[in-house]
Amino acid sequence: MAAVAGVAAIDVGGFAYAGGWLRPDTLIPAQFADRFEQIAGHHDGFRRNHAKGLAATGTFASNGAAADICHAAVFAKGTLPVDARFSLSGGAPDQADKPATVRGLAVQYQLPNGEQWRSPMINTPVFVDSTPQGFYERILAAKTQPQTGKPDPAAMSAFLARHPETVAAQRIIAQQPPTSGFADSTFWGLNAFRMTNSAGVTAPVRWMLVPQQQPGQPVGDAAKSDPNYLFDALIKAMERGPQAWTLKIVVGAPEDPTNDATKPWPADRRTIDAGTLTIEAVHTEAPGNARDINFDPLVLPRGIAPSDDPLLAARSAVYARSFARRAAEPKQPSAVNVEAAAR
Ligand code: HEM
Repeated sequence: MAAVAGVAAIDVGGFAYAGGWLRPDTLIPAQFADRFEQIAGHHDGFRRNHAKGLAATGTFASNGAAADICHAAVFAKGTLPVDARFSLSGGAPDQADKPATVRGLAVQYQLPNGEQWRSPMINTPVFVDSTPQGFYERILAAKTQPQTGKPDPAAMSAFLARHPETVAAQRIIAQQPPTSGFADSTFWGLNAFRMTNSAGVTAPVRWMLVPQQQPGQPVGDAAKSDPNYLFDALIKAMERGPQAWTLKIVVGAPEDPTNDATKPWPADRRTIDAGTLTIEAVHTEAPGNARDINFDPLVLPRGIAPSDDPLLAARSAVYARSFARRAAEPKQPSAVNVEAAAR
């Protein structure tokens, strides 16, 4: 699995690079990977971003409804296996869980025809950057200063003054505070894609996973003193039974922006409930499970294609660089251990 994932990722990353999204005279994938290390330190064997995580397995049951807009085999009626990974953003694999840290859920759908669809999502309704350069600059401006334990306010103010799109996105995100845990989080794919149906009609789309679980109880400060409280709560929830999300596909209108993940689409757009993602088990990260997948957002089945969003090719190229580095390094145990949490 690791070898297969790596080869696919590096091919796609090379194509993206050649496509000119990350021009050699401006920003290259290695600089991006270096920047994550500059902020969070170097941690052998871990992802350069979303380093702290928990592997998972389950199924996707398609109800056939999305076949109306997309001929990808994932949307034919039926059930297929998925590998998934829950994570927290940031390059430190041992960071303490915090309510406001961005949560990730990445899913790899294994289609019956041998194709794969890899879809990494986060728990915010828009992204805070519209360009790779913005992301690259923002994460440095947000770096915790050793003297204060906080970001340098002057650096962040200067960044925000140059990036009104980030200010606008942060306002939208502030209206939807994070839920109590992973199990009751919505996860958004954020970037626009293009889906084509069997009649050859193509439409812009975005998607999200909406939890079928009821909202959890607010977590008290005592529980939050557990540095793994978010992951431990998910492991405990899994002991009670599978956790499920509805995959919703939002169909854009021609005037909706496809090249800017900071901008929401109008709320009245057609939304298709495509089926149910069920997480049936969680696993400590280990060889051969989701630890060794590169959740490259450009690994897509026929029927789904990238949009003109410049983040997509940049993500693909940088994830490949992160994967190549971590695959060549000695592996360290994950801070999230299913057996220890279940005790
Ligand atoms: C230019 C923008 C971005 C850059 C440079 C970036 C960079 C990265 C890197 C380096 C990784 C680790 C890859 C690996 O080693 O496997 C990663 C993981 C991840 N990213 Fe991004 N990212 C970007 C935008 C986004 C966006 C827009 C989303 C949400 C839709 C997102 C969601 C995730 C998730 C969920 C993971 C963890 C996937 C896993 O569990 O393997 N990222 N990102």
